[in-house]
Amino acid sequence: MQYILLALTPLFILGSVMPFLSSGISSLRRVYRLTDEEADIRDAPDLKPVAENKIEGSISFEQVSFGYPTEDGSQPVEILKNINLTIKPGEVVGFLGATGSGKSTLVNLIPRFYDVKSGKITIGGVDIREIPLKTLHQMVGVCLQESYLFSGTIQDNLVMGAQDTSYDTMVQAAQAADAHEFVSAIPEKYEGHVARKGADFSGGQRQRLSIARTLMLKPKILILDDSTSACDVATEARIQDAVRDLMKDVTQLIVAQRISSVITADKIVLMEKGEIIDIGTHEDLLESSKLYQEIYVSQLGGEVPEYEVVE
Ligand SMILES: Nc1ncnc2c1ncn2[C@@H]1O[C@H](COP(=O)(O)OP(=O)(O)O)[C@@H](O)[C@H]1O
Ligand SMILES: [Mg+2]
Repeated sequence: MQYILLALTPLFILGSVMPFLSSGISSLRRVYRLTDEEADIRDAPDLKPVAENKIEGSISFEQVSFGYPTEDGSQPVEILKNINLTIKPGEVVGFLGATGSGKSTLVNLIPRFYDVKSGKITIGGVDIREIPLKTLHQMVGVCLQESYLFSGTIQDNLVMGAQDTSYDTMVQAAQAADAHEFVSAIPEKYEGHVARKGADFSGGQRQRLSIARTLMLKPKILILDDSTSACDVATEARIQDAVRDLMKDVTQLIVAQRISSVITADKIVLMEKGEIIDIGTHEDLLESSKLYQEIYVSQLGGEVPEYEVVE
């Protein structure tokens, strides 16, 4: 009896472990399904490496049109139509337009989150499809419209993806993004805890931390997509000045809803329903663009100064 019991006990234990094992295996399968997923956007197989420092930070859109791919593979709705735009290295360009006018879509094409349907986008004269994705992503820093913080420390969130992860660089980036002050007020400073999705920070603070994260990448092209929408106008102006100081010679694309966000840009691109309606400086547009005048009056109130309203 003793021997039989001795032999049976391990078998019973094995039996109780089996359900865990099988649920573990099926969980693992789900993890693999995710990690094995191949990106739709890939480097072309015969791609030659490009030296990043040889490429200038100029951008051009040539006859670009785009529609988001549909699930069933049917013809996508055209979101961007016939976009032509040239941006010089180091230029600060504002993008203004109603929600849904295609601003985010346009700037997200530059780091190749999606590929254009027709036409082409070049950086420094090179078609972005001929730049290896790794190089492209080092050159183009995007602060997405939906800022996302991960659980961990503030430092973890800031150094994510950066090559230069030194403390000084981090503080510099945080200062430029106007985040250093409120981080310093936390007892653990940069070691402070961030809850999932940054739930313990305000919207404006989350945005400022994600700007700092993008600045740490030291990109050649900086894209800020509605990144200061939750900050007040004074904070926004402070951030813009500091970012310009820190990122001299960096091409900046600033997407915004408010005129005040783009008023100092070298040029403003006015978008409506997926098309570029007008391009010019604040003064140019105020003089010549009916849509810009309407936005100006609705946001800043009063009359258009010095200029006649174009009928
Ligand atoms: N991931 C997506 N899939 C399908 N359609 C999208 C997606 N993102 C945006 N759109 C559509 O593209 C259009 C332009 O959106 P978007 O570029 O976000 O405009 P904006 O940034 O100017 O508010 C909208 O009609 C929107 O519904
Ligand atoms: Mg947007």
